[in-house]
Amino acid sequence: MSIITSMRILVLFILCYNKANAALSTRYPIGGLFNSETLPTSEVAFDNIVKQGSKAYHGRVIHSEVDDSYSAALEMCDYTSDNKGIVALIDARPVDDICDFTCMLCNSLNISYLSLNWEPPVTLEKDLFTFSYHPSPEMISKAYATLIKKLQWDKFTILYEDESSFVRLQEVINTWPYNSDQILFRQLHPDKDNLETFKYIFKVVHMSYHVLDCDVKNIMKYMHEIVKVENSTQYQSFILTALDAYTVKLDEIDELLANVSTMHLTTSDDVNWKDLDMSNDVIRLETALTADALNHLEKALRSMGISEYIDNPPALCFKDAKIDYQDAAWPKGDDLRNALLQTKTKGFTGNIEFNEIGQRINFKLHYSKLSIESEFIHVGHWDSKTDMITDEREVKERSSTSKSVIRVVSKKGKPYFDVVQVNGTTMFEGYAVDLMQNIFDYMVKNNLIHKDLKYEFYRESEDKYGNPIAGTKKWDGIIGELIEHNAELAICDITISSERNAVVDFSTPFMSLGISLVTKEPDPVQPDMFSFMNPLSLDVWLYLATAYIIVSFILLICARMSPDDWVNPHPCNQNPENLENIWSLYNCMWLTMGAIMTQGCDILPRAAGSRWVAGMWWFFALIVTASYTANMSSFVSASRRSNEIKDAKDLVEQTSIAYGTVINASTYKFFENSNDTVYMKIFAAMKSAKPTVFTANNEEGVNRVRQSKGKYAFFMESTQLEYAMQRHCDLRMVGSKLDSKDYGIAMPKNSPYKNAIDTAILELQSSGTLFKLKKTWWEDKDIDEKCEKSENEEDDNGSLQMKNTSGIFIVLGVGGLLGFFVAIVDFLLHSYKICVKEKVTFKEALLSEWRASLNPRALHRLAAPPRSAAPSTATPSPLRERSQSRAVSVLRAATSFINFDEIY
Ligand SMILES: *[C@@H]1O[C@H](CO)[C@@H](O)[C@H](O)[C@H]1NC(C)=O
Ligand SMILES: *[C@@H]1O[C@H](CO)[C@@H](O)[C@H](O)[C@H]1NC(C)=O
Ligand SMILES: *[C@@H]1O[C@H](CO)[C@@H](O)[C@H](O)[C@H]1NC(C)=O
Ligand SMILES: *[C@@H]1O[C@H](CO)[C@@H](O)[C@H](O)[C@H]1NC(C)=O
Repeated sequence: MSIITSMRILVLFILCYNKANAALSTRYPIGGLFNSETLPTSEVAFDNIVKQGSKAYHGRVIHSEVDDSYSAALEMCDYTSDNKGIVALIDARPVDDICDFTCMLCNSLNISYLSLNWEPPVTLEKDLFTFSYHPSPEMISKAYATLIKKLQWDKFTILYEDESSFVRLQEVINTWPYNSDQILFRQLHPDKDNLETFKYIFKVVHMSYHVLDCDVKNIMKYMHEIVKVENSTQYQSFILTALDAYTVKLDEIDELLANVSTMHLTTSDDVNWKDLDMSNDVIRLETALTADALNHLEKALRSMGISEYIDNPPALCFKDAKIDYQDAAWPKGDDLRNALLQTKTKGFTGNIEFNEIGQRINFKLHYSKLSIESEFIHVGHWDSKTDMITDEREVKERSSTSKSVIRVVSKKGKPYFDVVQVNGTTMFEGYAVDLMQNIFDYMVKNNLIHKDLKYEFYRESEDKYGNPIAGTKKWDGIIGELIEHNAELAICDITISSERNAVVDFSTPFMSLGISLVTKEPDPVQPDMFSFMNPLSLDVWLYLATAYIIVSFILLICARMSPDDWVNPHPCNQNPENLENIWSLYNCMWLTMGAIMTQGCDILPRAAGSRWVAGMWWFFALIVTASYTANMSSFVSASRRSNEIKDAKDLVEQTSIAYGTVINASTYKFFENSNDTVYMKIFAAMKSAKPTVFTANNEEGVNRVRQSKGKYAFFMESTQLEYAMQRHCDLRMVGSKLDSKDYGIAMPKNSPYKNAIDTAILELQSSGTLFKLKKTWWEDKDIDEKCEKSENEEDDNGSLQMKNTSGIFIVLGVGGLLGFFVAIVDFLLHSYKICVKEKVTFKEALLSEWRASLNPRALHRLAAPPRSAAPSTATPSPLRERSQSRAVSVLRAATSFINFDEIY
């Protein structure tokens, strides 16, 4: 009964009988099965092709109006009864991966069943008469897996509409080399709003690579939704998996700047469609497959040879028993099947060739990208034999036509970026601003970017580099601005690190640096006039003076006690009344003084005791002067290297100098994460130090170094240090850099400017512009006075400066003056004595002595010159008498000067 009811609802349309052919019997009858889900153009194409003359077949279009496959099969029975059987059926209907009733009937009756469905029956191997003209989804998904590898995607979303996507993308998912949670699956609804889904993808998890697997007619809808959510689509990249996606007119969405790749079997510009009067239509894959199946069939039939007589093929009707099918089977079915398997041809979908189970092999997929003009341009192909994508041409992708203003974010920090007020307007200046100008000029000059493009700087509101915000996938600071696509570039002293590189891209580095240690230059040693005193400590000087006096007394006592020092003043007189001893305290001190000054003395002791004392004193003097000389030279060289910290390792071994860095900045993290024992010790020492050695920023650290008189050292990045050293001449860099890292320009992932900026930086580097820029901002701008480095160099060659030795001259001068003064007093005393003795006026005595003594040309004088007369060159007195009288007077003067009692 149910069959009869379904027979009733069955409506049969025969759109077309081929009436043109009179000799029906000599040509093979075939059929084309379409329904409401197939494309009208496919029917037209079928119709147009079969109508072309001189074909080996004649065909009919069967347009089924029913939904279920059983009713459709019953329809076929009606249609093929009464000697209207067909030898092959082209089925364009989209059916699932099963061999439905129609398919089963064909296979049982040895009628070739040419399926255009994207999903071949799972029983294809058993279904001998089924041929699948659509390449298998497994093969096509291989092409997409290869494409994803080629584009180097690290993580991506799969946007799907229904479960069938997983069949089409099976290889993409199965061969994904990384963690499977790097693929984000999200379902799209063709007839609902998907804005929330897209917001999650673009704004929360910040995915930028997407595989969009959807019906070709929904692509536009989704793209419209995407540009509504995401303004910066130039950072997005899509693969459209629909094989017809290349026919979609994406140029209607002006805001869409994403890279879009797609693959397709057919090409839009195939001239052969003109022959079929179809060049005005948009040709879809299904239509192309219809044409290709017909042409392939034609070639296969011709290879069988056209016979005069064709058995009436059986009607496609259900039979009661299996045996009935075998009996009714078309006898030449096997021949046609073999002919189809062996026939190779070329069609709209490329090479048409089947393997033994009826699957397409040896086909190629065209690979196209969306160009700047928003058209899909063929750039290469994927070959099913090799599973490789061959590039044939380059195309400028859509993302390179970005917005008209490049927004550049930076953070305040001299000398990279600073905000200044010029004539009431706020302006930015700094190294970063100049660098951007140079890069931009280079890019414009070399046509790397569009001429009308401009750029503008803005300052990150918190002046932060950016750290991940705990518990979210967001970042703050400059990195956050890039991730949110508020800025296209970030230029400042931002270090390239792997953590940051995972969320943003970095250009080629424009500056290299390392962590360095800064200390304060030791205060210039006060020019010490009496530095000649320094080789011996004050104690030693005092002991030396004491020893000098004691030894002089001992010598005096010894000389007085020993008889050998008492000598006969007149050797001619054998029995002198008086014995003479020259060893007064005065002479003893003269001897010891002469010895310690390494000069010797004209009078020497004679007795054993006094000689022994003098000898010991000479020995003592030898050691003291040798020590003094040796100390003097080491003291001179040591004074130039007074700071004992020579590199970071020295810090660990001492406790008097504290050291720190900026808290939680990259230098801090360097020590925190280091495995080096020295650095670990440094970090432990910094962490436990009280009061804290960490500072909020570099300026604070530099100030602390400068104020702490060498008791604080600070770790900072070498570029900042160089900048500070140019401005504070008392800073000193100690040791070598502890690590090596780079500053780069940061940009969002997949930035269209990356290549252009890399090229520009390399060019600026080789042309020396980067060096010049650095020099300008480090050494020339806002600097009050340049540090005088020449002073230090002078110190280095080790010669003594006047400021160190002036004390010797002072001693010489003062000593000389003192001696002169003593001589004057002596002279006056002598004159006074004469004036008393000879009863002349003091003035006369003075003048006569003056004339007699101070004639530089005369070495002789009168012992008693005339007191008021003109100077006479009278008879010289005996030398001995004169010198004796001189010696006596000098000694008298000296003893009275140092207040000793008369001992002579
Ligand atoms: C996108 O741009 C428009 C206009 O330029 C702006 O009004 C809108 O807020 C932007 N949307 C987002 C998500 O940035
Ligand atoms: C139909 O095809 C099957 C499989 O090739 C074959 O075994 C059978 O003989 C064919 N039937 C006829 C009537 O040719
Ligand atoms: C600021 O104003 C002065 C005088 O009006 C002018 O000479 C100078 O060029 C201006 N500077 C800038 C940067 O515009
Ligand atoms: C788009 O393509 C360009 C050039 O092939 C590439 O540099 C850029 O990274 C791509 N963008 C995305 C989002 O994949």
